[in-house]
Amino acid sequence: MSVRTSQAARPKVTVVGAGMVGGAVATYLALRDYADIVLVDIVEGLPQGKALDLMQAGPVLGFDTHIAGSNGYEETAGSDVVVITSGIARKPGMSRDDLLRTNMGIVRSVAQQVVRESPEAILIVVSNPLDAMCHVALQASGLPRERVIGMAGVLDSARFRTFIALEMGVSVEDVTAFVLGGHGDTMVPLARFSTVAGVPLPELLPADRIEALEKRTASGGAEIVGLLKSGSAYQAPGASVVAMVDAILLDKNRVLPCSVYLQGEYGIQGLYVGVPVKLGRAGLEQILELELRDDERAALHQSADAVRDLVEAMRRIDADGAKSS
Ligand code: NAI
Ligand code: 2OP
Repeated sequence: MSVRTSQAARPKVTVVGAGMVGGAVATYLALRDYADIVLVDIVEGLPQGKALDLMQAGPVLGFDTHIAGSNGYEETAGSDVVVITSGIARKPGMSRDDLLRTNMGIVRSVAQQVVRESPEAILIVVSNPLDAMCHVALQASGLPRERVIGMAGVLDSARFRTFIALEMGVSVEDVTAFVLGGHGDTMVPLARFSTVAGVPLPELLPADRIEALEKRTASGGAEIVGLLKSGSAYQAPGASVVAMVDAILLDKNRVLPCSVYLQGEYGIQGLYVGVPVKLGRAGLEQILELELRDDERAALHQSADAVRDLVEAMRRIDADGAKSS
């Protein structure tokens, strides 16, 4: 019997942060069986243990994905995509600014290190507060906006799709939905651009039911935190990241809502905000500008204002840090 000793190189995906979301990303991506994965975390043994455990699912489930775990960045060299999920959750007694300060420090240092090893990579940012962390990753990495993209809209739209399907008693496969804006209370579910088998939602449900589904979507993350008590959602977030990785590495040109750096699109300048984009092998291939009604546009701008507040808070934190050093 002759045995093949080398395989054609698979694309390489690094996942920084081997916690709940990072673990789910690795799991769903391993099942896709077309890319190799490096998991990175600061906790010794955690990425190595998760990687080994997941690889041992391969013989059972039938995938050959190679998964490595590391506490450093050498093994990540030459990654095609880097997913950043590292960060901490807000703890009791911690202000929003404390959380912002900690996570911006983590995301900044991670983005600098990954890009040193993988200058051609496309970064998918997941860490919260999402849109603000995308700003940090863009600046710290020095990459063009096409290669620093935030995951939130795919998740928020998946939540809206789930609630619509449950309400209508139809398959989620026949439901499309768009949620735009920042990943927070001010996100903008767009019922007019959400459909069941191509029929817009306002033609199928009364306004009060649509409003209830939109509200549940906007507080979808908090609903899960309330149930889990400790920690936040990770399965749907992990699956949403993998949809974006697929779109990029399989060059699918999928149209997905993602947080991208707007330079005048939708009348918004210099901010990361969730809008529909075409995602392909180059990353952000195109921003699609929907014709919004005045009320929808106002809601998107209100959401962008909330992101601007966070970006300004980060500037103050940096300026205070520079003064005191
Ligand atoms: P987690 O606490 O389970 O995992 C975070 C991991 O990051 C931990 O294992 C920690 O050791 C690691 N980490 C911390 N500092 C690091 C560093 N400097 N380098 C490498 N690793 C480091 O948290 P979970 O549930 O996985 O969430 C991760 C992040 O994703 C959070 O900020 C969360 O709020 C956010 N999130 C965002 C979503 C979105 O839609 N954008 C959805 C779900 C979560
Ligand atoms: C979520 O939406 C916590 O951002 C996270 O579930």
